[in-house]
Amino acid sequence: MLKTLTLSALTALTLSAGGAFAAGGEGHVTDYEFSFEGPFGSFDQAQLQRGLQVYTEVCSACHGLQYVPIRTLSEESGPGLPEDQVRAYAAQNFFVIDEETGEEREARPTDNFPPNVALGAPDLSLMAKARAGFHGPYGLGINQFFKGMGGAEYIASLLTGYTGEQKTEAGAVLYENEAYGGYFGMAQPLYGDDVTYADGTEATIEQQAKDVAAFLMWTAEPKLMARKEAGFVGVLFLVLLSVLLYLTNKKIWAPIKRKH
Ligand code: HEC
Repeated sequence: MLKTLTLSALTALTLSAGGAFAAGGEGHVTDYEFSFEGPFGSFDQAQLQRGLQVYTEVCSACHGLQYVPIRTLSEESGPGLPEDQVRAYAAQNFFVIDEETGEEREARPTDNFPPNVALGAPDLSLMAKARAGFHGPYGLGINQFFKGMGGAEYIASLLTGYTGEQKTEAGAVLYENEAYGGYFGMAQPLYGDDVTYADGTEATIEQQAKDVAAFLMWTAEPKLMARKEAGFVGVLFLVLLSVLLYLTNKKIWAPIKRKH
């Protein structure tokens, strides 16, 4: 009994240590369902493509994704775009400064997404891992044990969490947001129908928010699926090893146990 208690307390402590440094989610965060959650979860390719569209048409006006190589858009475990589409996407949407010539040119798949455009807007490459949607209770981080870190939930909740209230502080306009838990500097970016989805999905605020949040989860952890697979194989191996050890143990002790 004591052992289990200590163990769960330790787990909680370790979990909260991981979460304590991730800011965000001070306000109300909705526990949205995402396909990549749970031990067998995986990214939904169609959703990643829709999220890429929202990022490109709305968020990229201010936010960069400077740690993400454009070519990764063709990854099978990511958005999975055909390579010619990736080439066309890069050329049509972004300009970069060529490292060799120092001149501006159309982006290529070998380039990374450009850095931030707007002053004060953070880069979004790793945002889904830098924010936690779930904490508590009592700073133990137990919610994260059941619901996950909630980075994607936080981003989706942030985009749907505007109250419409705003105020001016030291010359800057600040907007009230329930997920942020107060006022901050990003004006509401999504109002519904901000993009037209090619697959016919209705572009409500919530749909677009969830799609771009899923896309940002992929940019932050593109190898999530491979990690889960490796974890599963590892657990399977340990289970098998346990069975073999149990049987070996039984066999070794059998002659001695028979005597008594
Ligand atoms: C008009 C420019 C602009 C657009 C468009 C925009 N943002 Fe922002 N965003 C900002 C600025 C500025 C901040 C920093 C605000 C602050 O810290 O006070 C910010 C902050 C954020 C944050 C961090 C919030 C936090 O917890 O600190 C996230 C996440 C975010 N934006 C996501 C998005 C997404 C996703 C989109 C597209 C749907 C988007 N933004 C569109 C300007 C923009």
